[in-house]
Amino acid sequence: MSVQIITSIEDMQTISSRWRLDGFRIGFVPTMGNLHEGHLRLVEKAKQNVDKVVISIFVNPLQFGPNEDFEKYPRTLDADIEKLQSLSVDAVFAPDEKSFYRNDKDKMTYVEVPGLSDILCGASRPGHFRGVTTVVNKLFNIVQADIAVFGSKDYQQLTIIRQMVEELAMPVKIIGMDTVREIDGLAMSSRNRYLSTEQRNIAPKLYQCLQSMRQVIREDEQDLTKLVTEYKKVLLKDGFQIDYLEIRDAHSFQSIEEPSENMVILTAVWLGDTRLIDNILV
Ligand code: PAJ
Repeated sequence: MSVQIITSIEDMQTISSRWRLDGFRIGFVPTMGNLHEGHLRLVEKAKQNVDKVVISIFVNPLQFGPNEDFEKYPRTLDADIEKLQSLSVDAVFAPDEKSFYRNDKDKMTYVEVPGLSDILCGASRPGHFRGVTTVVNKLFNIVQADIAVFGSKDYQQLTIIRQMVEELAMPVKIIGMDTVREIDGLAMSSRNRYLSTEQRNIAPKLYQCLQSMRQVIREDEQDLTKLVTEYKKVLLKDGFQIDYLEIRDAHSFQSIEEPSENMVILTAVWLGDTRLIDNILV
């Protein structure tokens, strides 16, 4: 059976409501398309837990800053649908921008998780996470899923969404999935296609740096500030420009100076015009 493509909010709501009335459990994977193996694993994960799986494909303008890559973000709907056929997804929700946001940006209703949305990626991309939480909230209302699967590659995004769901008592269970990587360790991302051959050769060094930092901490390095300073030098030498490299508590996101139980090392760097993010749990 070929996958259903749904473009209208009302149609998606009707289908989901009918499924729910019939007693089906719905799993949901929100994406911006240009699907790669990382996205497909999220779909497979969702399928293990429910009867019906919906994936959304929508390049959300609200989460891009004025000088970011909204215009050039890869839109590959036909190829994406092709990839989904073999996974027997039940519906692809692919609305167009005009029908999805019916109000002007300055008159819209937003959902915002303060604090967490203003640090790390949020500090360099003002308004980004407000755009994410707003679209995800709206998509949840449309798809009415029992579970939704998100990747840990966007660790801060996953944490913010968990907090939004908890605080607003949204009736959806959030499932996090490990980062899917290329053979050389580079985290899969739709933005990797912007990299030149030379940049693509440098890119895996980012994850190598995170792995090496984790190793040093496990071998009992106590001075995390010194460690971060040293590894920033390594990244610069490798050819990255650093947005941030930080070690934080994996749950609260508080800065930490001494090793503790649950830590996450988070980084965002630039290779030319391309921004790469990655993280590793310690
Ligand atoms: P997008 O970047 O398309 O990612 C969609 C989902 O795939 C997110 O949950 C993301 O964390 C996950 N993902 C991306 N690359 C991954 C990888 N290499 N391994 C595992 N999971 C990966 O994230 C967004 O879109 C948007 O912000 C969205 C949540 C759809 C809201 O617009």
